[in-house]
Amino acid sequence: MATNKRKFGFWSVVGLVLFTLFWVGLLSGNILWTSDTPPLEIIDDMDNQQKVKAQAPSSFFADGKATRDPVEYTVPRNGTKYNVSLDDADTKNINSIPVTAEVLARGKNRFETMCTPCHNHDGKGNGLVVQKGFANPPSLVRPDAVAYTDGRIFHVISAGQNIMSSYADKLSELDRWCVVHYIRVLQNGGTHPKMTAAPKTEKDNQTTAQAGTAKAASAQ
Ligand code: HEC
Repeated sequence: MATNKRKFGFWSVVGLVLFTLFWVGLLSGNILWTSDTPPLEIIDDMDNQQKVKAQAPSSFFADGKATRDPVEYTVPRNGTKYNVSLDDADTKNINSIPVTAEVLARGKNRFETMCTPCHNHDGKGNGLVVQKGFANPPSLVRPDAVAYTDGRIFHVISAGQNIMSSYADKLSELDRWCVVHYIRVLQNGGTHPKMTAAPKTEKDNQTTAQAGTAKAASAQ
């Protein structure tokens, strides 16, 4: 007996699957298409979240900043709170970190991450942030700054100075001393004054560092 029912044949099913895959592929965008525009997201997982990004403004807090300062009277879990005054900085902040290739490499890495936006790669100021309108800091390689004690430079990094904020919560004490050593490299035209030549091997490192320490000790 003949019926009016339509049957789905094999090719109809294949066609339907291909049709579905085409639209899924088209809409998911990021997987199948080399386009720069964001894909249409059917399920966006956690791509879009309600959050504020670092440095972004926020209407939630009275001061309008999304980035929060540490709560008053809290102390860092790692390291200590810095509370040396500028007057004591020269004498109380003692740089006991030896000058080694590793220390200088770390200092360079931290300086270029944290300080170059304002002080530039050469320490002379006019970094990118300054080019966009931030106050130009004084050159770190000018004679006055060369004459600063290590303790004084450590103080500025730890406590901040006028419109430069403190980096004590962003750099550990060790990192801050590494940066101080690296500033001496910038001031000395590319090599640390305690290092006679660029070290080549680990053994060379140790001997130059020791010679440097001995030289510094005899100079005192
Ligand atoms: C947001 C910009 C900015 C960043 C980032 C910054 N500084 Fe500064 N820095 C300044 C400004 C501006 C001054 C001048 C402050 C003043 O008026 O006394 C300054 C001053 C200094 C001074 C004192 C210079 C002098 O002659 O009195 C030192 C040392 C210094 N910065 C080191 C650093 C180091 C090291 C870092 C990275 C850990 C750093 N700064 C990151 C803006 C910045």
